[in-house]
Amino acid sequence: MTRRAAITGWGYAVPESVVPNAYFEASVDTSDEWIVERTGIRERRIAGVEESTATLAGGAARRILDRAGVAARDLDLIILATATPEQPVPQTAAFLAADLGVHCGALDLGAGCAGFVYGLVVGAAAVAGGTFDRVLVVGAETLSRIVDPEDRSTVILFGDGAAGVLLEAREDGPGVLAGDLGVDGSAADILAVPAGGSRRPASAETVAQREHYVRMQGQEVFRRAVRAVVDSSESALERAGVASSAVDWFVPHQANLRIIEAARQRLGIPTERTVVNIEHYGNTSAASIPLALAEAADAGRFSPGDTVLLSGFGAGMSWASAVLTWGAR
Ligand code: COA
Repeated sequence: MTRRAAITGWGYAVPESVVPNAYFEASVDTSDEWIVERTGIRERRIAGVEESTATLAGGAARRILDRAGVAARDLDLIILATATPEQPVPQTAAFLAADLGVHCGALDLGAGCAGFVYGLVVGAAAVAGGTFDRVLVVGAETLSRIVDPEDRSTVILFGDGAAGVLLEAREDGPGVLAGDLGVDGSAADILAVPAGGSRRPASAETVAQREHYVRMQGQEVFRRAVRAVVDSSESALERAGVASSAVDWFVPHQANLRIIEAARQRLGIPTERTVVNIEHYGNTSAASIPLALAEAADAGRFSPGDTVLLSGFGAGMSWASAVLTWGAR
C-alpha cells in the first residue's frame, strides 16, 4: 500500500473590486496596450478597506472545506503561504485558525510566489509520511498593500486574492507523486521589500525612502524565472517518473504571459494543456497557482487520473514544482 496526499478540496476568494489596466494610466506613465502586450494582464482584483490577507484566506478556506465535505475541526495542520502577512507578529495562519475556530497547528510559509507549491510539497510529505491526515494549504495575498503606486514597472503587475487545497491521506489512490524545492539566496535583492524586518527596521527614513514597497529588477527576474520553472519542473517530473509529454495539465505561476509561454515551449507542453488566467488577476503571488488550479477544477477541466504539473518561482529567488494525479478517491 502506498499512502499519498490527494487533493480532496479546492477553492478561492478574490476581492469584488476589478481594476482594469486603464486605471493606472491616470497615475503612472503606462497604457493598457503596453501592459497587455508585455504581461498578458488586463485586470486584477484589489482588496477593499475591510479586506486583508487573513479575510481572503478565510473565504478561500471555507470553500475548500465545503468542497471536500470536511469540518475545520478535523484539520491537523494549516500552512498559509504569503508574502503579505496580516501583520509582522503573530503569523497570519493564527488569524485564519481563529476565523475557522480551530486550534490545530498553523504556520506561515514565506517563499514568495513559490510559497503555495512549497507548502503543498511539504504538506504532502507530512501526509504521506503518516504524521498528519488532513493539511490545509492556502496561498493568500494583498499585494496591493506593498506595491509602490508610483512605480509603473510593479504597480501594474500584482493583484490580491487567496486560494488553496485540502490534502487528505489516500491509500493507493491519486495524489502528490513528487516535488522539487529550491532557493538561490544570492539573488535575494532582485525582488524584495527592503525594510520592516530585523536588518532594516521601520523608521521615518525607511518610509521616506519608500523601502516598505516591493523593489524588483524585472528583466533579471524574468530571465531567472524561465530557467527556474523549466529546471524545477524537469526535476519534479523525473522524480515522479513522468515524461513531460505525459503531462495532462500544466499550471504555472501567473506572473507574465511571456514567462509562461517561454517555459511551456521549452517543456514541450501544448498551449491547450496550460492553465492561464493571468489576464483577469495579474500576479497574485502565493495565491496564483491555487487560483488557476481551482478555477480550472471548477470549470471541470481536470478528469480523475490526469497528471498535473504545478510550477512556481518568486522572491528568494525561490522555486517549487509538484507532480500529482488528480482525483479524490
Ligand atoms: N508601462 C510602460 N512602460 C513600462 C512599464 C509600464 N507599466 N514598465 C516598464 N516600462 C518601460 C521601462 O521603463 C523601459 O523603458 P526604457 O526602455 O525607457 O528604460 C521599457 O518599458 C522596457 O523595460 P523592460 O524592463 O525591458 O520591460 P520588459 O518587457 O522586461 O517588461 C516587466 C517589464 C516587469 C513586465 C517584465 O520584466 C517582467 O514581467 N519581469 C518579471 C517580473 C515578475 O515576474 N515578477 C514577479 C516574480 S514572482
